Amino acid sequence: MIIQRFFSFVLIIGISLLALGGNSPLIPVFSGNVALAAPIIPNVSDLAKTVQEIEALDAMRTALASSLEGSTEIPTMQTMKEVCRPVGMRAMQLSQDHGWQVKQMAAKYRNPKHAPDNANAEMALAKFDQEPNLVGFWDRETVNEQSGTRYYRRIDVESSCLVCHGVKERRPQFVKDAYPQDLAYDFNVGDLRGMYAVFIPDDLQKALTEAAE
Ligand code: HEC
Repeated sequence: MIIQRFFSFVLIIGISLLALGGNSPLIPVFSGNVALAAPIIPNVSDLAKTVQEIEALDAMRTALASSLEGSTEIPTMQTMKEVCRPVGMRAMQLSQDHGWQVKQMAAKYRNPKHAPDNANAEMALAKFDQEPNLVGFWDRETVNEQSGTRYYRRIDVESSCLVCHGVKERRPQFVKDAYPQDLAYDFNVGDLRGMYAVFIPDDLQKALTEAAE
């Protein structure tokens, strides 16, 4: 499933790049005013790399959550903590490794750092909510006064998530203690849980392009 999705992404990226210079259906989803003439948009292998890293990040969470679900041992405090926090740490590592800004965002967030950070991100969450089959898309945006390309990828609720994101009263004690402003509960399987957002600044892209020349 994930692999299939990945390949369809690569295909989509390829198609959208072919369409550059004309009207790319994917990149300018929200912004009416897209400077496609400037050759700073990430090239196909950079876009594919972003997609691949985010698929791996998402697979990591699914694997951690399902190992907890499948375990016959009573989860300890430590094992309970080892699902979504490592995902956040890995996101930070990816940001450092690639010069991207990798974030998780949700309308109903547990950690207030994961609130949508601009109007485009809010619209992206609304779009994923309205379009259950939309897995990801690219947008041209300005974040912290830097222009760049942003990749959004949906996160859905699976059964293994419900132990911590299900019924409010049944959340693990560490969640109740550590996140007094928690909003990330009462989800059902298949609900939109949130999204990943990866910002690739144009300056980084320019530097990479120049280095490659
Ligand atoms: C063992 C408990 C646990 C399980 C199981 C769990 N989560 Fe979480 N989740 C958390 C905690 C704790 C946080 C806050 C982490 C932080 O502070 O960065 C969180 C945060 C998140 C976030 C970031 C946005 C926010 O609300 O802060 C997303 C997205 C998320 N979880 C999705 C999932 C998905 C999808 C699954 C199932 C595949 C899942 N979680 C399973 C405990 C869990």
